Amino acid sequence: MQNTLKQAQEYVDNKLKIQDGNPRPKFHFSTPVGWCNDPNGFSFFNGRIHLFYQHYPYETKWGTMHWGHATTKDLLTWKNENIALAPDCNFDAKGCFSGTAIEIEGKHFLVYTGVSLSENKEIQNQCMAVGNGTTYKKFKMNPIITAKNIPFEYKVSDFRDPKIFKKDKTFYMLCVLKKLDEKGALVLFRAKDKTLKAWDYISVIDESKDNLSGMWECPDYFLLDKKEVIIFSPQQMKENKSLGFKNGNNSVYMTGKLDFAKGKFFRDKRNENNYTVASLDNGLDFYAPQTTLLPDGRQILIAWMQSWESYITPQNYSWSGMMCLPRELKFVDEKLFQLPIKELYSLRKNEMHGFIKSNSSGTFYSKDNRHFDCELKIPTSVLCGKLFVKLAQGIDSKTNKEYFVALSYDASKCELSFSREKTISPGAIFEQTIELKKNTKDFLDFRCIVDTCSIEIFINGGEYVWTNTFYAPPQFNSILYTSTLECDINYKFWTL
Ligand code: FRU
Repeated sequence: MQNTLKQAQEYVDNKLKIQDGNPRPKFHFSTPVGWCNDPNGFSFFNGRIHLFYQHYPYETKWGTMHWGHATTKDLLTWKNENIALAPDCNFDAKGCFSGTAIEIEGKHFLVYTGVSLSENKEIQNQCMAVGNGTTYKKFKMNPIITAKNIPFEYKVSDFRDPKIFKKDKTFYMLCVLKKLDEKGALVLFRAKDKTLKAWDYISVIDESKDNLSGMWECPDYFLLDKKEVIIFSPQQMKENKSLGFKNGNNSVYMTGKLDFAKGKFFRDKRNENNYTVASLDNGLDFYAPQTTLLPDGRQILIAWMQSWESYITPQNYSWSGMMCLPRELKFVDEKLFQLPIKELYSLRKNEMHGFIKSNSSGTFYSKDNRHFDCELKIPTSVLCGKLFVKLAQGIDSKTNKEYFVALSYDASKCELSFSREKTISPGAIFEQTIELKKNTKDFLDFRCIVDTCSIEIFINGGEYVWTNTFYAPPQFNSILYTSTLECDINYKFWTL
């Protein structure tokens, strides 16, 4: 098995020599070759920001997981590094699943889930590798945490996604596991020392309640504006419009107090929905977010910009999977807001501004209709009419068929709709409508960021984010609009 890493790297290097011609995002991270899902080990180390990711280089679908690796200084330009981890040991032969990274005394520690076989059944244990930011060596005595560390029975095939953090000179690890009743739980461990080789079980600090979800995945824990925040991604949720959850996999956050002595997380009530957990992103394509603290004090979030529910990568693509635009987190009125990283301003060029006239239709012309940043302000006093936009619009010259992404804002219902039904690869789930709470300000504020095959809409300065992807050939690049709103809408537009 020793050659697994070398083989994977050679495969990627050879594939990258061939120009595949597939369109790619310009400033979002996308996997160089093959498949990627969750971000892993998102961390600042040795002067660079490191992004690892769940990676299967050989096909554009999920397979035995490796850890791909990229680095960046500005969160917009990504340098592909060599694959960091491959499933090449007995303790991770079935995959190196998600995890995190931390710096300890100048070394970069990766903590991940090793999937292996025991009596022909898959089990998941926590493992570690240490490196210098370029190459990583797995700890020989892996795994570092197994079922033996946990004093109760649970599904040993679902115990994963370690988040490691330090508090008062002690290292802790937060993992998820599936209880025998299929519910998700967050379990906390304490490291015996800074070598991270041995761990004590503390307790289940929180678990899924109120029958709202099944298993939880990919926990994160951090402090922001003096608040303790836990992020995780619950599976099998049912749509609940008043709480703001969609069907299937969601990504959510909660704040509260992690009482290390009692081994419990005491949740706060959320302002957004009067519940204790609120959604992070309302779109179809956002999952498994992770955060990291940068030296300048910003807590930055990144997530997989795709979904398990709807595979839409076109068949002829050599890559599948990208990350959302990194977002800066902050609390406003007790709600977690997400803002596009400020570095994005440096990409803005060709500024245009003006009005979308009331009761008008037209075509929007810019230098680049598939890479842009656009701000729109709609007065909250507008109570009827719609703004309808066709993005990435084009006519197939062979079939004469029209293709586009449909976006609309319905003022009477304060609703936003997205549909990729009329794109080349709509997938099983291709449309979504979300309702925005009417805010008390004079304007609803939209900032739309489009990068080849994604649209992220930041609403009211990051109060809501709506992330969706679509595939369209680059020549489908018209923007058509129709407004039946009763007043002119102010816009600013920059190509990126
Ligand atoms: C979430 C997830 C993780 C797991 C990884 C496997 O998307 O299911 O829980 O570690 O993907 O690729």
